Amino acid sequence: MTEYKSLFDQQVRWYSVANSTNDLAQQWGASDGPHGGVVVADEQTAGRGRRGAVWVCPASEGLAFSLLLRPTFPRFLWSRLALVTGLAVARSLDRYGLHAEVKWPNDVYVAGKKLCGILVEASGDCVIVGVGLNVNVADFPDELRDYATSMKIETGIEFARNEVLELVSHVILEHANQVEHDFPHMLQGLRQRCALTGKTVSLTTAGFVKTGVIRGINEQGEILFESEGEISALFQADQIRIIRD
Ligand code: BTN
Repeated sequence: MTEYKSLFDQQVRWYSVANSTNDLAQQWGASDGPHGGVVVADEQTAGRGRRGAVWVCPASEGLAFSLLLRPTFPRFLWSRLALVTGLAVARSLDRYGLHAEVKWPNDVYVAGKKLCGILVEASGDCVIVGVGLNVNVADFPDELRDYATSMKIETGIEFARNEVLELVSHVILEHANQVEHDFPHMLQGLRQRCALTGKTVSLTTAGFVKTGVIRGINEQGEILFESEGEISALFQADQIRIIRD
């Protein structure tokens, strides 16, 4: 493991192999890990996705990292961190000439394909923000090729992963530090980049699948789903699949 300070003064722990950077960040948080500390691994042997999925990425092509946060605001507002992380990543990608959208709650999409997945976990007094960003991934397995993309595939450019890490983790930290007071403004940013608004989707929640139209995001960050003439505000969904633009 190599430890150093990023360009933005964040403490970075860089591993060649880890089970899951979220686990390492949790352990760091349980000891003396600093707010804004970053754990990154070239390769994860047990990378986790949301809803129990596995997160796999070719070694040294993507970025698998976790940001350790020690929020000073009340716990009932912590869920906002998950929402604004997607926005922060999407905004960071602007700097590389990529137009990214957020598929609520926090998947980051470019050209209709997923470029980044985010897993936020609470652990004691800490929040661990796990980010899987497809930076230099050259190709995906057949079953993912239609759904996943990378910065390299979209631009033809090979990026310096350490520079992308430092920028993206800095922008996420800035959003996390401002979320308590600036959430309404961040919601505006999310609405502008929402990949779902106006789309017909199939939405799975608690084992039920319904078809409807996404009408936007409300003041609490919940998604507005219209089905059978009724609009419901949803705090979470197991799966949202776009059926029609
Ligand atoms: C998803 O889209 O399901 C979320 C994927 C999150 C993957 C990242 S990679 C770094 C961090 N460590 C993990 O084990 N998971 C997250």
